[in-house]
Amino acid sequence: MLRKIVSPALFLLLSALVIASCNSSETKPTATGSDTADRKWWKEAVVYQVYPRSFKDSDGDGIGDLKGIISKLDYIKSLGVDAVWLNPIYGSPNDDNGYDVSDYRGIMKDFGTMEDFDALLKGMHERGLKLVMDLVVNHSSDEHEWFKQSRSSRTSPYRHYYHWWDAERGKPAFRYSLFDVNHDAWKYDSATNAYYLHYFSRKQPDLNWENPKLRQEIYDIMKFWADKGIDGFRLDAFQFAAKDTTFPAFPKGFEKDFIQYYAMVDGLHDYLKEMNKEVLSKYDVMSVAEGAGRNFQDAHDLVDADRNELNMAYAFEGVDIAKPEGYSLLHFKEVFSRWDSVFAEKGWLSVFLANHDQARMVSRFGNDSPAFWEASSKLLTTFIMTMRGTPYYYYGDELGMTNAGFSTIEDYQDIATRNEYEHQKATGGDLNKFLERIRFSSRDNGRTPMQWDTTLNAGFSTGKPWLRTNANHTTINAAAQEKDPASVLNYFRKIVQLRKDNPVLVYGKYTLLDKNNPDVYAYTRVWEGKKMLVLLNFSSKAAKANTGVDTNKAKLLISNYQTASVDGTLQPYEASVYEL
Ligand code: GLC
Repeated sequence: MLRKIVSPALFLLLSALVIASCNSSETKPTATGSDTADRKWWKEAVVYQVYPRSFKDSDGDGIGDLKGIISKLDYIKSLGVDAVWLNPIYGSPNDDNGYDVSDYRGIMKDFGTMEDFDALLKGMHERGLKLVMDLVVNHSSDEHEWFKQSRSSRTSPYRHYYHWWDAERGKPAFRYSLFDVNHDAWKYDSATNAYYLHYFSRKQPDLNWENPKLRQEIYDIMKFWADKGIDGFRLDAFQFAAKDTTFPAFPKGFEKDFIQYYAMVDGLHDYLKEMNKEVLSKYDVMSVAEGAGRNFQDAHDLVDADRNELNMAYAFEGVDIAKPEGYSLLHFKEVFSRWDSVFAEKGWLSVFLANHDQARMVSRFGNDSPAFWEASSKLLTTFIMTMRGTPYYYYGDELGMTNAGFSTIEDYQDIATRNEYEHQKATGGDLNKFLERIRFSSRDNGRTPMQWDTTLNAGFSTGKPWLRTNANHTTINAAAQEKDPASVLNYFRKIVQLRKDNPVLVYGKYTLLDKNNPDVYAYTRVWEGKKMLVLLNFSSKAAKANTGVDTNKAKLLISNYQTASVDGTLQPYEASVYEL
């Protein structure tokens, strides 16, 4: 998804000042750190994201399922993570792999039954793992009963569960749809001679949050799952839920920056406050917003504890900067430092480099060539695990899984990729160029089956997988890495433990060092008298870190090399963490 954050001038200025003040000299330990007075499990947790369709198939139909996840709970526990975020598992016709819900209280047939879900939750809780569920309520499936009723007549009690525009009024002003083949968010429906709104695919009509009855339905659904004992909700695309229902025309070209027009429309904060009062405040659940609004003020307002809305923001500016054309480390450092500085005293962020909407992190931000794949995977993991905020770590990244890099459109299953291909075809786009682009960036790159072992289909399924298995599973797989103490997998376990043992890595003040170094990302974390130094060489050459710190005198806590750097000269993709 394309997400762009434009920060107001004041915030830019403040962040620039904060970053400018971070020079290469040592920083005195201080007791400051964001929201440290208010320690919470969800701040200290490492969240592991499981894409159920691709994790483990128990019945040979080629689609991952809940029983499959249950069979791998010991593996998940062995990683040392605290919580699992599951992508949607509700009833769905799967136009967008479960992000089109037709039954919010049922389990998708491909994934199993409610008994399987109860067993999964029990199995997780027995192991001390928490469960965060995806809540997809900006839109439903067009096969949801509400929509079937809504489209059946203009006087249906469900009519105003969705957004309709009667055709007698003429065609509504253009709205951009992210997934529609024509990118038109209004779809004409002859049954009632009206258009309905869909920001995503035609099979994902947007729900009308202005309608109090709809809102109550959603709160009841949330209570249903919270009563089952789940531990959190991830609010999918919720920043788009409120709409100006006069549906004004937007300036030409607005779709290049649609977040500015679609996100955080008046009413959204009221809905969140109401949701908090009705549901979130009544249960011991955490809540995370997908997206963080149009600017830093929005991001703050979403998660400021005094406002009683959500707990944690999940901002996209960091992951969005990797493009097929590449990205610069200077930009990467600037973005992550700016976001950290804005949340330094208040509010809480997520830290991540991948999820089911992105290609694989090692292929985008690291180097997936044989020479550097291992070191750069470990480097990126070190970054995620040593930043302030809650780490969200995507399944398979603990093995260093890489992009699938499919070469024909038939190999892709993702609605966004396939529909964009059709769009390009219909509008005379350069299809070869498009295929080249998606080889790097399609969401399916990050959705290939989990690579358990070297057997058929990587041990994911005995049947034909719904999405092709990456051929490199013969070399990159969990079974092989279990046996190797220095593997990417075992490195992940070690650094998760390091974070657990050192709350300074969770709460500590972050200070960027050697800001203008184009190859090295260096920073300190300081909290309650503890100080850590993180050195990350993001390049394939040796590079010098000018931090002013003599690492020979520091205690090395972890490194992705057998022998860590001396004199601040880092080996290619070296990641080393020191206690000062
Ligand atoms: C979110 C999800 C994405 C989905 C979209 C529509 O961005 O992460 O996978 O396609 O919302 O629900």
